Amino acid sequence: MKIVLPSGSAMNSPEFLFGSATSSYQIEGGADQRLASIWDTFCGIPGKIRDHSNGSVACDHVLRWQEDVDLMVELGLDAYRFSISWPRVMNPDGALREEGIDFYIRLLDRLNEHDIRPFVTLYHWDLPQYLEDQGGWLNRETAYRFQEYADQVTKEFGPRVYSYATLNEPFCSAYYGYETGMHAPGLADRAFGKKAAHHLLLAHGLAMPVLQRNSPDSLNGIVLNFTPCYAATDSAEDEQAARIADETFNQWYIQPLMDGKYPSIIDSLPEVERPDIIPGDLEIMAQPLDYLGVNYYTRAIYRADERRSFVCLPPASQSLTAMGWEIYPEAFTGLLVSLNRRYRLPPIYITENGAAMDDSIENGRINDTDRVKYIQEHLEAVNRAMEQGVDVRGYFAWSLMDNFEWAEGYEKRFGIVHVDYATQKRTIKLSGQSFRDMLSRRKHQAVH
Ligand code: FCB
Repeated sequence: MKIVLPSGSAMNSPEFLFGSATSSYQIEGGADQRLASIWDTFCGIPGKIRDHSNGSVACDHVLRWQEDVDLMVELGLDAYRFSISWPRVMNPDGALREEGIDFYIRLLDRLNEHDIRPFVTLYHWDLPQYLEDQGGWLNRETAYRFQEYADQVTKEFGPRVYSYATLNEPFCSAYYGYETGMHAPGLADRAFGKKAAHHLLLAHGLAMPVLQRNSPDSLNGIVLNFTPCYAATDSAEDEQAARIADETFNQWYIQPLMDGKYPSIIDSLPEVERPDIIPGDLEIMAQPLDYLGVNYYTRAIYRADERRSFVCLPPASQSLTAMGWEIYPEAFTGLLVSLNRRYRLPPIYITENGAAMDDSIENGRINDTDRVKYIQEHLEAVNRAMEQGVDVRGYFAWSLMDNFEWAEGYEKRFGIVHVDYATQKRTIKLSGQSFRDMLSRRKHQAVH
């Protein structure tokens, strides 16, 4: 079983970047060398994490980062996407934490030595607890603190970074963190989600000009996740339900950035659920982007409901990942094409795509043919969007290695590299080997 690039696709060009992605809290460990984040606190609340675990050790990447870069070299990656732990690099008084900065500089230097382009995300959900103590993303001030953090670290990193993303998936931070309580900091109030989202998008907008000033040669943008919304039937009611869900979960996060306005459903929100908008905020959010990072995993199906505007139905098919997410690559093509029709998009990078599967080790090998198939089908789906005019420049597999999958703990494995948490041994899975072989065939073709 192989990963084969569609013939004739721009993916065959060495300009199209293939990489893999991780995030700080999910892999780093080294919790004693940084300040606490909201995830440390959240993991301490009984019942929040399925296997009662936390990210204090995770993949022990702060100690094993050199070995991990060697793995990327072995895989032949063009690029590596990772995130900076804010509480590792910034003290509450705004002073830099030198040890944390040095860690990332060593990592960046090593990646560049190997021609692996660093894609750095500044915020992948691990807010310093000292900021949560002052209201976190419900407090407008956090957006300004983010701007200061972005300013300081980009000055320190200098020209080492190929691409910056301000935020990873502000939808998840806002909705799961402040509206459903499934993620840190675990607040659950319908009135909170959109207020937190507003401050996240504001933080993005405040940081973008800072990135462009301090790091003019890098590609600077943001990473958004999208779960395309389908109607359960073709009745007008269900179509409308799917449309409202799409505006709520997807367009809410991209439309302000592209058009400087929230989707029209804002007008039907009860007053208490509306964000606290100060005149000028939407202009701040709508900064030009060098690229848009798109994360895609699955779709969702909605039907109309008398009490609520929409209800999400269980997956329509038996084709599911270990997360219970439907495998539906067609929606990936549809998503990219529809975004491209609706907005004037900058170039796109697929910054996350992948699957948790029930991997098993047999004779030291992980034969994850299901994950190979997932990646193959989703690359083909991206290619179909490219054939319809969408400007996609790269693809990152989530994830480089198995890691702490948030509320699911360590039970769900997304890696193309297996991690034995007892020994920290890394083993490249069949999917990792297939990714490597695909990249090496591509390199070979480019030379000949
Ligand atoms: C995304 C997150 C990433 C990972 C994958 C499975 O929403 O950005 O950290 O957990 O899902």
